[in-house]
Amino acid sequence: MADNNRDVVILKHGEMSAELELQHGTVGPQGIDITPLFQKTGLFTYDPGFVSTASCRSAISYIDGDQGILRYRGYPIEQLAERSTFLEVAYLLLNGELPTQAQLEGFVSDVTHHTMLNQSLLKFYNGFHHNAHPMAVMVGVVGSLSAFYHDSLYIHNPEHRALSGLRMIAKMPTIAAAAYKHNIGEPVMYPQNHLSYAANFLHMMFATPCEPYERSPLAEEALDLLLILHADHEQNASTSTVRMAGSSGANPFACVAAGIAALWGPAHGGANEAVLDMLEEIGDVRHIDKYIAKAKGKDDPFRLMGFGHRIYKNYDPRAKIIRKMCHEVLHELASDDDPLFELALRLEEIASRDEYFLERKLYPNVDFYSGIIYRALGIPRNMFTVLFAIARTVGWVAHWMEMMADPKHRISRPRQVYHGADRRDYVPITERS
Ligand code: CMC
Repeated sequence: MADNNRDVVILKHGEMSAELELQHGTVGPQGIDITPLFQKTGLFTYDPGFVSTASCRSAISYIDGDQGILRYRGYPIEQLAERSTFLEVAYLLLNGELPTQAQLEGFVSDVTHHTMLNQSLLKFYNGFHHNAHPMAVMVGVVGSLSAFYHDSLYIHNPEHRALSGLRMIAKMPTIAAAAYKHNIGEPVMYPQNHLSYAANFLHMMFATPCEPYERSPLAEEALDLLLILHADHEQNASTSTVRMAGSSGANPFACVAAGIAALWGPAHGGANEAVLDMLEEIGDVRHIDKYIAKAKGKDDPFRLMGFGHRIYKNYDPRAKIIRKMCHEVLHELASDDDPLFELALRLEEIASRDEYFLERKLYPNVDFYSGIIYRALGIPRNMFTVLFAIARTVGWVAHWMEMMADPKHRISRPRQVYHGADRRDYVPITERS
């Protein structure tokens, strides 16, 4: 029950009633502040999957899922995708404002000069099996950065926080490319300071000590675009994991390692890899109907990967941008008729007319087309989610910094509705039936 004369919601249960204040955001739905609910009523709220729960106040990104809107710090994703660069977007997400020319140059130089890895850290790679999934390597190596940078681990010092964040953003492509080189048994390539963030990653992936990598400007542009589109997405599972880990005062490297682990799942960042597996499994447009039927089957766990989103009940604005880039990349870098892209387009078309998908508002999400571009750039499938992690590190760091700077932040400690056994007495093993 809302009291329209005051900014409160009144919750009544039997004789009991509690006044709960509303939290107003700049745009979007208001929130009911239920912090005092338990104290006032002895009741918890129950919301598995946080469907109706805002876990924090944040000023970093904004999504309107019904309208298909995504903004970083107020700027529409379409404008940033068209006119900005990944490091400029990173500056924006971290600092709240677009940089001046001098600020951008300073930030790019700072990132560039933190890209190298400590030689001892590189030895860690030898401990991983040669065919270790690069996401497993990422979790381990990023977490272990905390064993190296003791000079910036005092989380209550904003300068330490900024330095740790910068180090992670800068080193992530180097760590990722080294994981790939370990997989294929090639020597690790060092970063090149004259290259852009995206070009440097491509260089570390594909150059060898014997031959330079001749990069295509379109490959660099496409990768930069994908990094922009994946940089932040408010309180998704991995970002919430980073915040949750950080709320206990854990160091930022450990928090981001936790975020990478959460991202890996196929319902989240692992979907880009799963989409290509699925397209290959479908194999031919003639089999689409069969897979659509499987996806609709109540008892079949199969889902159309790259379809659906907790928040977007409209076309994911990022997918629209990527779809367009797919055409350009395939036209210039591949033979133009990638059968998997044709299959993806056809699958989207068929699903978009299907009652099941229409009713549930299931549209292609960011991951549906991104793998097609990565594939055209020569990036192997098990690196797709790693690329997502590189980009999202900016969002993770921005959210961790926002939370740490908030004097009101508390340890995240959800409650539960217990439904296990009630109190009972221990029975000696000889007396158990
Ligand atoms: N294929 C078939 N049915 C689906 C799909 C799908 N991809 N996604 C949702 N549904 C159905 C689901 O079975 C349910 O049907 P019903 O109401 O009959 O039980 C209904 O739609 C609602 O689904 P839900 O699982 O309650 O929705 P959710 O918000 O909990 O899950 C999701 C969101 C993204 C995990 C889910 O849509 C999904 O598993 N999609 C495939 C994986 C994927 O592409 N993930 C990438 C997400 S975007 C990148 C990122 O930011 O992580």
